[in-house]
Amino acid sequence: MAEKNNNALEKIVSLCKRRGFVFPSSEIYGGFAAVYDFGPYGVELENAVKREWWRNMVQLRENVVGLDSAIFMSPKIWEASGHVAGFSDPLIECRKCHARLRADHLLEDIDIAADEKMSEEKINTLLEENKDKIECSKCGAKDFTKAKKFNLLVKSNLGNFTQDWSKDPVYLRGETCQGIYVNYKNVLDSMRVQIPFGIAQIGKAFRNEITARQFIFRTREFEQMEMQYFTRPEKEMEEYEKLREYRWSFYKSLGIREENLRWHKHENLVFYAKEAYDIEYNFPFGWKELEGIHARGNYDLGQHSKYSGKDLSYVDPKTQEKYIPHIIESSVGVGRIVLMLLAEAYTEEEVGGETRTVLKFDKRLAPIKAAIFPLLRNKPELVKKAKEIYDVLKYKYMCEFDDNGNIGKRYRRQDEIGTPYCITVDFDSLEDGTVTVRDRDTMQQERIKIEKLEEYLTKNLNA
Ligand code: GAP
Repeated sequence: MAEKNNNALEKIVSLCKRRGFVFPSSEIYGGFAAVYDFGPYGVELENAVKREWWRNMVQLRENVVGLDSAIFMSPKIWEASGHVAGFSDPLIECRKCHARLRADHLLEDIDIAADEKMSEEKINTLLEENKDKIECSKCGAKDFTKAKKFNLLVKSNLGNFTQDWSKDPVYLRGETCQGIYVNYKNVLDSMRVQIPFGIAQIGKAFRNEITARQFIFRTREFEQMEMQYFTRPEKEMEEYEKLREYRWSFYKSLGIREENLRWHKHENLVFYAKEAYDIEYNFPFGWKELEGIHARGNYDLGQHSKYSGKDLSYVDPKTQEKYIPHIIESSVGVGRIVLMLLAEAYTEEEVGGETRTVLKFDKRLAPIKAAIFPLLRNKPELVKKAKEIYDVLKYKYMCEFDDNGNIGKRYRRQDEIGTPYCITVDFDSLEDGTVTVRDRDTMQQERIKIEKLEEYLTKNLNA
């Protein structure tokens, strides 16, 4: 992507709205902060991301199985995991405009390494030491309240109507992996898995994020893709290194340029973690976390054993050795990958004195794989032939039929949504059974026999 600034993000946000990828939530009611809806092309892109992730994480790995656990769970799970007591971000308020902001982000903005895991005391010391430099990102004032930890769990009132919700809330899950930990034993007992093995899950998670910025990068409702891998204690770090490599190669396989990816090692580790790295992407607003890959020791199953009173240790079938498995985790948000793909694919080119906007997605990920056009909409014989082609290809690929506007306009629309191939039926098609196939990236056109179209797409879409 040529531009790396807010202008680049604005262009992506605008294209997403204009072309049906992402809409602000509840727009006709004035919007709803930090929540977004995925439109017709957005949902196709999300589905493609989830399909590729599942293929990479579950289908291609003989010792990883899938799961779909419920969003609602026993509130005790969130006590055991530490979320009720400690799942919080440092909140600060601007005394002038009353904007509520993340104190760690304000420090990062002036290049002071800080994160949400820092103690309240440490954050407040850093804020005090740098008070002349820190400005409110909304109004520019330099007058703030003290930073306070703000819990991110979203409360709900599901279930028992006699319950006092202020005392005993139920939570919308803050991460999907807790559903994996509490089903570890069910999976072990019902499947033929042995350590090492993994459980993968894709699903919604909810967080009362303090700040709503950077489009779909940080939202209050989002989808996570997480894989938890259960290992012998002494194998944890070896498996961790393998997982890190595997995840890096996944992003390469999606066509992400390596110069836009980098590793970030966590310096402030939570007490139980062995090691933690993020894969960062060079988003239009700078380098930010894309995915977390963490070596978590035996904390998770240990905590759930303690709080549930159920023994979650593993007995090695060969040696009868008993231990609590250690866990390595890969965790990423679907929306973050979608935003990365949009940023990576967004291209503006000069063609014939005009700017062509094109999303150069990896062809497997494109929301629409082929668009089929009759050259002219008022020629029934062309429309009929184009519809016939569409009716065949749609069984294999997401296709679109379009007879609206001149061909140039139709190409431009398909370029903007990243469609790899446009197929045009013209008068020659009726004579010789061939059509024009135009390539999104090169704009080259070639004549292909209609009966060879499916083969052509299969070969070139790498699908
Ligand atoms: N189970 C570990 C966990 O949830 P995390 O670092 O809080 O760790 C993991 O989140 C990943 O989930 C992040 O790297 C990011 O891709 C995604 N994510 C987290 N919070 C998000 C939010 N508010 N909006 C979108 N994606 C988010």
